[in-house]
Amino acid sequence: MDVGPELGSLIVLSNVDFSYRSPAPAEQGGEGLAFALRGINADIPAGQFLSLIGPNGSGKSTLARLLNGLLLPTRGSVKVAGLDTRDPGAIWEIRRRVGMVFQNPDNQLVAPTVEEDVAFGPENLGIPQPELGRRVWEALEAVGMSAYAKAETHTLSGGQKQRVAIAGVLAMQPEVLVLDEPTALLDPVGRQEVISTVIRLHRQLGITVVWITHSMEEAVLAERVWLLADGRLVMDAPPARIFAEAEWLRRLRLDVPAVVTIAARLREAGFAIPPTVLTGEELVRALMQGWTGCMQNK
Ligand SMILES: Nc1ncnc2c1ncn2[C@@H]1O[C@H](COP(=O)(O)OP(=O)(O)O)[C@@H](O)[C@H]1O
Ligand SMILES: [Mg+2]
Repeated sequence: MDVGPELGSLIVLSNVDFSYRSPAPAEQGGEGLAFALRGINADIPAGQFLSLIGPNGSGKSTLARLLNGLLLPTRGSVKVAGLDTRDPGAIWEIRRRVGMVFQNPDNQLVAPTVEEDVAFGPENLGIPQPELGRRVWEALEAVGMSAYAKAETHTLSGGQKQRVAIAGVLAMQPEVLVLDEPTALLDPVGRQEVISTVIRLHRQLGITVVWITHSMEEAVLAERVWLLADGRLVMDAPPARIFAEAEWLRRLRLDVPAVVTIAARLREAGFAIPPTVLTGEELVRALMQGWTGCMQNK
């Protein structure tokens, strides 16, 4: 069956505005309204790995919370598999389908042991044994934490806690995993554990991923990147195209790879470095060309 991109979209955001304060009445001119998000029109097809980047305060966490109805749009609509987040009758189904993992691993685990923690969500859904036990086991296997099933959660590393948090979401059998800077508080080992776990889940289970990050090195792992600035979706493109806008990213004070920063400095110093330079190799090549040109002019 040929399904068009619109029909294939799992999440659809239409004209979404969000403000943390309720709008002032029209007779007051609507003044003082602070929009955290404005005019968002976008959709996420099932099975996509999307990365969401933007400066602090640009609205990334707000957008994440709109995706599973933790927040409701001030205007416009957010639909998940056709279900509107403003529909109170659909909200629990939406939250089951769109699982969230947050930044702080210590704030997400609710039970004393790993297996109890992972069982918490499906137990609340009323999933009986032995289905419950099977789900917990499969979820722990999927994040590589089954050896820790009986462990007390407080004994785990940050990366392990995040993987247990992901398992807790997986046990609800979601379609979408939204991760809001899940690596920000982790050491490099934990960071790598979480990244490779999510990539594996995406590849093996086909789970749709929305990965919010400050790190461009992480953003390039996605198929598609959304760049938020000041509550607006200013770019929606594959990572290669986003990186081609390095100067712009730098102006937004986003973390850009070291090579991009060095290339920009060299450019300021008068070197002819093309804006497409993103890797060390490309930078060396550009400098060599410049050097050769310089020698020929002498
Ligand atoms: N609970 C809140 N109450 C009021 N304003 C908020 C709240 N949370 C975030 N904001 C504001 O909304 C905007 C977007 O914030 P946020 O979505 O947290 O951005 P990000 O995750 O990109 O850093 C910011 O201006 C922020 O100050
Ligand atoms: Mg945030």
